[in-house]
Amino acid sequence: MTETDVDALRRVPLFVGLADDDLAAIAAAASEVEVPAGQLLVQPGQAGTGMFFIAEGTAVVETKRDHVELGPGQFFGELALMKPDAIRTARVRAKTPLRCLALDRASFRGLVATHPEVAASLIEVALGRLAENAGVE
Ligand code: CMP
Repeated sequence: MTETDVDALRRVPLFVGLADDDLAAIAAAASEVEVPAGQLLVQPGQAGTGMFFIAEGTAVVETKRDHVELGPGQFFGELALMKPDAIRTARVRAKTPLRCLALDRASFRGLVATHPEVAASLIEVALGRLAENAGVE
């Protein structure tokens, strides 16, 4: 864990209201992932092993309908973690050099179990994304 990781997590709207100790625990559970521009991070149809919080750079989510850009403070890869046998719903690629903090499935479960308010916000974002992909939003 470094101060930089906690700073990055403080910019995540999903974590608004969490105390510094909580952010430090999340940062300690996370691993840093750095990839160059163009690299694929998530492939549709694969099993989900983790979710990613963007610390620096831009990612592009390629759904069947659209291309959506995500930047610092935003996240991806949550959908396939919300159900044990779920698969990735879209392709995610680094548009620029990208630095993320990644939570594996076990840490994700721990996070939502200990922070119901984070779980509720995650469900809202997830439903919005699924509705957008289904063309009903
Ligand atoms: P997951 O299905 O695990 O892997 C692909 C990810 O792309 C998905 O989780 C979401 O995090 C993200 N994603 C899918 N659809 C959208 C969307 N419409 N807007 C933003 N992100 C999306």
